[in-house]
Amino acid sequence: MDLWQIRGGRRLDGSCTVQGSKNASLPILAATLLAPGRVELYNVPRLRDVDAALRILRALGAETRQEGHFVSVDSCGVSACSVPRTLMEQMRSSVIFMGALIARCGEAKLSLPGGCQLGRRPIDLHLDALRQMGVEIEQDGDDIACRSRGLHGAQIRLPFPSVGATENVLLAACGAKGRTCLSGAAREPEIVALQGFLRALGAEISGAGTDCIVVEGFHPRRSAAALIPPDRIAAATLCCACASAGGEIELNSADPEQISTVLYFLKQAGCDIIHAKRSLRVSRMGRLCAPESVTTAPYPGFPTDAQPVLMAALLRAEGTSTLRDSIFENRFRQIPELRRLGADIRLEGQTALIRGVERLHGDVLRATDLRGGAAMVLAGLAAEGDTLVLDEGHITRGYDDLDGCLRALGADVWAERI
Ligand code: EPZ
Repeated sequence: MDLWQIRGGRRLDGSCTVQGSKNASLPILAATLLAPGRVELYNVPRLRDVDAALRILRALGAETRQEGHFVSVDSCGVSACSVPRTLMEQMRSSVIFMGALIARCGEAKLSLPGGCQLGRRPIDLHLDALRQMGVEIEQDGDDIACRSRGLHGAQIRLPFPSVGATENVLLAACGAKGRTCLSGAAREPEIVALQGFLRALGAEISGAGTDCIVVEGFHPRRSAAALIPPDRIAAATLCCACASAGGEIELNSADPEQISTVLYFLKQAGCDIIHAKRSLRVSRMGRLCAPESVTTAPYPGFPTDAQPVLMAALLRAEGTSTLRDSIFENRFRQIPELRRLGADIRLEGQTALIRGVERLHGDVLRATDLRGGAAMVLAGLAAEGDTLVLDEGHITRGYDDLDGCLRALGADVWAERI
């Protein structure tokens, strides 16, 4: 259990560097199974989810090394194609090893993934797409056995731009005979990062960032190195921290374009935002006001992962803010906890109505999931007195030294394992 202690009332001031992207690191770590030798990854965030991915790679027979934000993986010794259930349960992204294993070994044995409880989170789109590539799939309860006697390229159309399903198809397509054309693909920047890594391995792949991606099956002839890009959701979280606490911060290594929708609503609410190509300055001086209604959507729409942290930033905004989450059916679990601080939030179906209050007060909260837990920390920055967040490791799954980063910006925030 981690205990987060936040003493509210301090405005933020200073600069910090945004961590490497969790959601780019995880599929690239799975993709190291395709490499014929040692892969070097730089700017990898220190996260529990990265630790879980490295445990899966070692369980499959790979050798891994992690020093600070450097990670190396040598998958030459991979001999297994089965991911232990205890490792699958630790995060949602474990499902991405399915496509990589099928490409590498022609088979994969795993179970349904774990991760934040944001709704049902099925993997039907993953499985349907892999079947179109010649993968035979047997399901027995939570257990899934995949085998392909001839993985082949296919024309696949996703009915919804699932990020994970897109990543699984791209990884499997690398091991397929012939061309795969994936339409209805997710357009997230993390898909572009994965494409960059696969190209470094020798893949002929193009279209990432659009809804149509084409991959030629190939045998990687060379190993590769990759620099993990900044985490856009961590950047959005820090912008919302400034909106919540007030003050002025500068983020280095952020990519403002990737969080343009978040910045749009923060600006509408009253924040001042100046951005260059790779840096961002956010300030909030007076009281915020409710922006236009926000609805989450697949990239480049407003990211569902930023919904909880924007909610935290708007708890004291004048008027009533409206946040609708169209991606997950159960991504408002932070609301009852935020109400304990004095927030006035009403949930109507998939829409949260936040009536801005003058003041928030500290209390003891329990983190419900990764981004909901971060939202509680951000709300504590704006609350009078002390807020404690009891966290069973959700926040450190996705944030690298969030308390240290906030302290560097002048906040009084400490996290410790108890
Ligand atoms: C990725 O999850 C991210 N995780 C999530 O970030 C993010 O919220 C999500 O994409 C949406 O942007 C990683 O990249 C590791 P999806 P993923 O498949 O791939 C439904 C965070 O906080 N769906 O795009 O699981 C699903 O239930 C995490 O960093 C199916 O119905 O998301 C959901 O409602 C949380 N069938 C919607 O699609 C499927 O086969 C979006 O899911 C797959 C998905």
